Amino acid sequence: MEAFKVEKSGPLKGDVYVPGAKNSVLKLMAASIMAEGTTTLTNVPNILDVEIMAELLRRLGCQVKYDPANSTLVIEVPEKIGHKADYDLVRKMRASISVLGPLVARCFEADIALPGGDAIGSRGLDIHLQGLEKLGCDVHSEHGYLIVRAENGLAGTNIALDFPSVGATENVVMAATLAKGTSTIENVAREPEIVDLCNMLVKMGAKINGIGSSILEITGVEKLNPTTHDVVPDRIVAGTWAIAAAITQGDITIHGVRPNDMELVLEKLRDTGAEIKSVEDRLHVTMNQRPKAVDIVTLPYPGFPTDLQPQMITLNAIAHGSSMVTENLFEARFRFVNELARLGADVKINGHHCLVRGIANLSGAPVEGTDVRAGASLVLAGLVAEGTTFVHEVHHVDRGYSNFVENLQNLGARVSRVQL
Ligand code: UD1
Repeated sequence: MEAFKVEKSGPLKGDVYVPGAKNSVLKLMAASIMAEGTTTLTNVPNILDVEIMAELLRRLGCQVKYDPANSTLVIEVPEKIGHKADYDLVRKMRASISVLGPLVARCFEADIALPGGDAIGSRGLDIHLQGLEKLGCDVHSEHGYLIVRAENGLAGTNIALDFPSVGATENVVMAATLAKGTSTIENVAREPEIVDLCNMLVKMGAKINGIGSSILEITGVEKLNPTTHDVVPDRIVAGTWAIAAAITQGDITIHGVRPNDMELVLEKLRDTGAEIKSVEDRLHVTMNQRPKAVDIVTLPYPGFPTDLQPQMITLNAIAHGSSMVTENLFEARFRFVNELARLGADVKINGHHCLVRGIANLSGAPVEGTDVRAGASLVLAGLVAEGTTFVHEVHHVDRGYSNFVENLQNLGARVSRVQL
């Protein structure tokens, strides 16, 4: 079993580079299967989830090669592809579900194992499926698989999503690009990763109006063409480094970011007392005092991202004052709070609210990272906890952060990966 061994460290100082976004690249990889030929993605992070998606595409018949030296992924999509996403892959990574829209668009059929993934809540699929049904799919489940068929093809229509779900928006948008006629999709998610996907689809030949707004109008085309696309920077990884600077009272320059995608996060960090300068694609974050507690409410973009909620609870746990953190996306994300309490944090959960009373010092202990962001947050907590913290279940962190330990070490953190 691997774990991260984390010792109390001084302020983190130095430079760190942010790769492309996990939550974008996985969907861009899924989109690639809609076009026969060679798709090239650049700025691709070296993370486990990309490997899992690459394996999924290989089983559909694609050739996929990743070059970590250039962060480039080349996907060769054959004329005929399979239509099945197997359970062993889907259970490892819920984002496997994003091949559903592309498969029905290209093959008019998809058999997708019902997903598992992060242990962060029930994460329904009803909105994905309602949208696909409106486009002309029949859906049922059999032996743990979703069986989706569009025997008469897909036809453009009006769809209003019940909630701006990221995954549902992506699946419905991808399917609509190859449907016959025009679709209007209302209440879509507006995350920068969705804008990135739409931009790549447009390069592939899709006709999409309203990109970045909550209503998209998509006119189906006969065929999409392969393209080359640079993955949008990972605002969650960038936010994690910014919060790390604030928690450790450090001084970090974060390279390769898009500050405009992170406005609310940066505003909240300024409220904690951090000084933040943004110049082009760089963020310079310094903190010269113990952070001040800030209230957080997670919401779909441009609200505060749920993927930075555990990191902010960690900051609040060692801050001056008390704060209320409200989680509106994934109820089970608060499972992480029980682990933080093992480090001495004063945290109380009431429904989807978490009251955090800041204390001066945490104290090291063995803890378990319950999902990718929880694992990273517990490492940050370990950096300011007296003694040694062992963070178990590191595979979660490997799913979303490339070279996490090496990056931390470069910033002066006393962290290592150990076998237990
Ligand atoms: C994506 C991100 C994840 C991020 C989340 C919210 C990826 C790989 N993952 O997840 O990191 O935390 O967006 O920003 O991109 N829901 C339903 N029915 C549905 C779909 C969703 O009830 O059909 C609910 C979910 O249970 C959840 C909420 O809607 O409570 C948000 O889910 P969604 O926006 O779909 O998140 P994901 O796409 O799963």
